[in-house]
Amino acid sequence: MTATQYRMFSVNNPWSSSRIIAGFIFTSAILLIVSFSVIGYNSWPRLAYASTSLKHTIPRTTRGYNRLQPLIDMFYNASKGKVLNEQRQISALGDKWPSVAHSMLNMSSLQEVDNKVSVLLLLIVTTAPSRFDRREAIRATWWKNCDGAEVMCKFFTDGLQLTKELQKNLSAEQKIHRDIEFMPFEETRIFGIRFLYQIMWAKAKYEFKFMLHMDDDYFLCLEKLKSELYHRPKKSLVWGSYHCSFKDIIYVDEAWIIFSSDVIEQFLSQDPQTILCHPHSDQQIAVWLSTLYGSKKSLIEFHDGRLHHYPPARKLDKFKNLPQVCNNFLGVHGSSPEMIKKFGRNSADRRRILKLPKLTRITETCHFPNVFNISKVAGMYQFDLRPCITNPRWTPGEGMWRGSQ
Ligand SMILES: *[C@@H]1O[C@H](CO)[C@@H](O)[C@H](O)[C@H]1NC(C)=O
Ligand SMILES: *[C@@H]1O[C@H](CO)[C@@H](O)[C@H](O)[C@H]1NC(C)=O
Ligand SMILES: *[C@@H]1O[C@H](CO)[C@@H](O)[C@H](O)[C@H]1NC(C)=O
Ligand SMILES: *[C@@H]1O[C@H](CO)[C@@H](O)[C@H](O)[C@H]1NC(C)=O
Repeated sequence: MTATQYRMFSVNNPWSSSRIIAGFIFTSAILLIVSFSVIGYNSWPRLAYASTSLKHTIPRTTRGYNRLQPLIDMFYNASKGKVLNEQRQISALGDKWPSVAHSMLNMSSLQEVDNKVSVLLLLIVTTAPSRFDRREAIRATWWKNCDGAEVMCKFFTDGLQLTKELQKNLSAEQKIHRDIEFMPFEETRIFGIRFLYQIMWAKAKYEFKFMLHMDDDYFLCLEKLKSELYHRPKKSLVWGSYHCSFKDIIYVDEAWIIFSSDVIEQFLSQDPQTILCHPHSDQQIAVWLSTLYGSKKSLIEFHDGRLHHYPPARKLDKFKNLPQVCNNFLGVHGSSPEMIKKFGRNSADRRRILKLPKLTRITETCHFPNVFNISKVAGMYQFDLRPCITNPRWTPGEGMWRGSQ
């Protein structure tokens, strides 16, 4: 699909206005019916939940995730429960109870909206609450190419059990940038649960063609990525940096993954009561992919050598003063904030594609069969899968997970 074709989805295109009006009459009738069936849930108390901006929307009925209600309830309950616990702890310390009644951060709602925002790419960066420096480096550089229409970019961070000072800082940061979504979690190793939360949020609020899930220590050549996306498969796509070090442990790393919309749809088609979670989202994703796609022959698993994954770039001399990073890379993982700012000064990130780089499948680049068997994982990354609906914790008291840095 070309850029022009894609813009047909946008309300700015006069060509589509008559369709919108016709569509609106039809949609309103449907909405009327749908609103009766969801009214019970909408009247639920939602104290600290934020509403979403409805810019760039086309009226249409896109609801379809009512079956995920048990998970939405669980996440909502979790936020209430944790806030209450905080209150009890604080009051035990002698602080006045009602004055700290709840967090000053508004947790994002998972409630599905009628008018979803249409974007080519929904880009989600998972970031720890205290990583202000990383977010600022990103905002100062490649984030500027998030236009909110073709690409929507959001930071996702934890909103529970933060110190008052951190809450204050985050609240001020949010007032300025409005680009953070707060999740009802404390800082611990639950990347799989966060991922589930993020994709539920994504599908509840957006009509996206692709979703990019990534870490906050990545430099991204977003212009280059945008232009390429129009020429990449729109279905069954899982694009990232794959691990191929051990037999039966072949999987895409969680630091950077693009999914086509249908793959996210498949993830959310699982039974909310039995869907399984893991502390590390990449193992969880690998298990989900095997469960849903069997031998995975129908998937297009794109192992992209232009993503630098490991060792972290900040530890490598070759990245210290590398100009025009986008000439050879699509993204650089493990970049320090200083490095990100340096890359940004002269990144050579451009929309122009001279020759579309070949889509290299993991099945071609890896000498092992494309298998992920979670029982083969050992050591610090070995955990059991647990039903997400129980909101499990695997590493109590661990605090912020710093990975391999
Ligand atoms: C959420 O809380 C309500 C009220 O306490 C309870 O009835 C419901 O079972 C809870 N749901 C989940 C999924 O935890
Ligand atoms: C909050 O922001 C101030 C001012 O930028 C900074 O000095 C302080 O370290 C921050 N505190 C936390 C907990 O991040
Ligand atoms: C939370 O929501 C309230 C009401 O919509 C708003 O005034 C406030 O600025 C929000 N806080 C943050 C941190 O976004
Ligand atoms: C996964 O690995 C375990 C342990 O080596 C083995 O017992 C099991 O048969 C393997 N499962 C599959 C589906 O190959």
